[in-house]
Amino acid sequence: MALGKAGRATAAEIVSLIQDELRQVEQYLRQEGEAPVEAITAIARHLYSGGGKRLRPTLLLLTSRLIGDAGASAIRLAAVVELIHTATLVHDDVIDGADTRRGRPSPNVKWGNHTSVLAGDWLYMKAFQIALREANFHVLDLLIAVTQLMVEGELLQLQRLGSIEVSESDYLDLVNRKTAALFAASARLGAISAGAGENEERRLGEYAWNLGMAFQLVDDVLDFTADEDVLGKPVGSDLKEGKLTLPLIYALEGAAAEERALVAAVLKDRSYARVPFRAVLELAESRGGIRRARSRAEQFAEAARRIIQDFPASSYQRALSSLTWLVIEREY
Ligand code: IPE
Ligand code: IPE
Ligand code: MG
Ligand code: MG
Repeated sequence: MALGKAGRATAAEIVSLIQDELRQVEQYLRQEGEAPVEAITAIARHLYSGGGKRLRPTLLLLTSRLIGDAGASAIRLAAVVELIHTATLVHDDVIDGADTRRGRPSPNVKWGNHTSVLAGDWLYMKAFQIALREANFHVLDLLIAVTQLMVEGELLQLQRLGSIEVSESDYLDLVNRKTAALFAASARLGAISAGAGENEERRLGEYAWNLGMAFQLVDDVLDFTADEDVLGKPVGSDLKEGKLTLPLIYALEGAAAEERALVAAVLKDRSYARVPFRAVLELAESRGGIRRARSRAEQFAEAARRIIQDFPASSYQRALSSLTWLVIEREY
């Protein structure tokens, strides 16, 4: 039976399905974030206590339970994907020169770039150290591939920084590397931890990949439309950091030369001193960029929904299907 919007689980209901496991993951993260060098422990604590949606562990635990039993492997691997995510965020904030993360000063602001880069390295290695406990080459292979993809994504993004010539396909390729690949890996690891067959693992990976694409597209829309206090990071950051994202890529397709020049000015200055953020937002809205980017996100979410609907009905299947709505409706 197709799951309509009506049969959806709320975020609280989804979390309640895996509450005990999430608590164990949290304990694990805190315990494993203890390093012999104080700065690393402090950065890990700062980030874990600052919030975060724990979306990747949630995905891993739900897919694990969908297939079978979420045992100790699922808990460990959920901690692994969150550690990889955390390490990427620490490095990402250094690269982006960001000042806020999870509503607090980002680690680069509090501890500086040098310490943050090294702490990020340490967290990556911690993730692999835990993953090694699975003694499973397939697991390691997946994790290494996804980490490399994410680094490649950040590098490609760096090379394109400040460029106005970014196509939709360049952008989507970046989103695949930066975000969707880790979502896909999380679901595959959940499936593996519960002993899924190859086909189930692949389909769950595809579900989560589409979910991740939708998630990042919405993230990029929120960078224009969100309330800063709710989002926990400043709006208008992407363009100011030199990144042209989908709402503006679409808006620029039909834009006049003067409108293009507005965007080019912010990309060049890396500031809204000459062109206020308001003007850029108006352009993204009036040229249909926001609406089109949202609708592209909805297409990815629908693709994810179609895949998950083919799995036997259960509270976990319902939760995974509901996530496809929640990612597009989220405000932070
Ligand atoms: C932030 O991810 C980086 C992106 C992929 C957009 P999240 O939005 O999942 O970050 P937290 O973990 O909830 O802070
Ligand atoms: C996503 O990049 C972060 C990673 C997946 C490493 P962004 O730079 O777009 O994410 P935010 O906006 O800083 O969270
Ligand atoms: Mg970045
Ligand atoms: Mg960033």
